[in-house]
Amino acid sequence: MSTSHSVWQGANRRIHMQEVGLRDGLQMEKSFVPTADKIALCNALSAAGLAKIEVTSFTSPTAIPALKDAEVVMREITRSPGTVYTALVPNLRGAERAIESRTNELNLVMSVSATHNLANLRMMQEQSFASLAQVVALAQGANVAVNVSLSCVFGCPMEGDVPQSDVFGWVQRFVDLGVPGITLCDTTGMAYPTQVHKLTAAARALWPAVEFTLHFHNTRGMGLANVLAAIDAGADRFDASLGGLGGCPYAPGASGNVCSEEIVHALALMGYETGVDLGQLVVVAQQLPALIGHDIPSQIAKAGPRLALHPVPADFEAIRERALARS
Ligand code: COA
Ligand code: ZN
Repeated sequence: MSTSHSVWQGANRRIHMQEVGLRDGLQMEKSFVPTADKIALCNALSAAGLAKIEVTSFTSPTAIPALKDAEVVMREITRSPGTVYTALVPNLRGAERAIESRTNELNLVMSVSATHNLANLRMMQEQSFASLAQVVALAQGANVAVNVSLSCVFGCPMEGDVPQSDVFGWVQRFVDLGVPGITLCDTTGMAYPTQVHKLTAAARALWPAVEFTLHFHNTRGMGLANVLAAIDAGADRFDASLGGLGGCPYAPGASGNVCSEEIVHALALMGYETGVDLGQLVVVAQQLPALIGHDIPSQIAKAGPRLALHPVPADFEAIRERALARS
């Protein structure tokens, strides 16, 4: 089986866009975004056609106060039939809360870096795995889908590179539990395109039946390049965040995810099908600064799409006359 799907042949290839701004984005925000605004934001994202939306996280409200309203948000959003509503869950307690709130999919998280796992989740990796194995069993019993997000796959800000054999060891252990989806997370923007291509191709070759998602942060400006490298290796699911918000509060130097509207814009130009209405997405992104009280990284929200043309200068006719007179 070939693992190469030339990125330059995008015509009609489906790419699933998974929005994580409400979780990976808002978890970092200092000011609390009112519950009603989170719900409205999620509804607008559903209307824009996102394949999956990570609505919130069922974490400890002391650890992540910005998302302490998880139950209300998850219960009160309007659900679109084409969208999967997922939530990040760190432990059994979180899984019970998520299932009670009618979450479609539990997104479990642990880090392939022992140091980051301890800093972020306060557990040794074996403790995390044992706890997540219980969550997987609970979800399977309740008939709720499960995805596992592995942090620091492309490098840890405290440990450096994590060997690919370690990463794949964790993938195998979750696959053995019957987990159908794995997200390979570049938690702090350490991934680079050739590394992404190699690791993505190898993962897809080893586990062709697993649904892999790639999760990049644009911390070092390589976000879009990494998305294209992953597509070239056959990936078709990406996490991205509205406006480019995001970052892990327990990972030093973490900053925004790849920006949803920038990725949708680039992929649309290249002929990929994302199912997302770019115009609607940009309108929602442009509402973010008012909601969170600061500017957003998104370049598309500022510049507009490529063919959002500008008027010619006011004195254009006079310029033409002068040019013609000189000819
Ligand atoms: N939902 C609600 N409350 C939770 C909870 C959950 N999923 N998990 C733990 N708690 C509560 C406990 O009840 C306890 O509350 P108390 O102090 O009132 O008794 C408190 O949180 C501490 O619980 P403990 O089991 O000792 O956990 P901890 O302090 O070791 O924290 C985590 C472990 C993982 C639950 C917590 O650190 C967390 O939620 N972190 C968030 C990680 C995250 O989302 N990072 C960014 C995304 S990658
Ligand atoms: Zn992230």
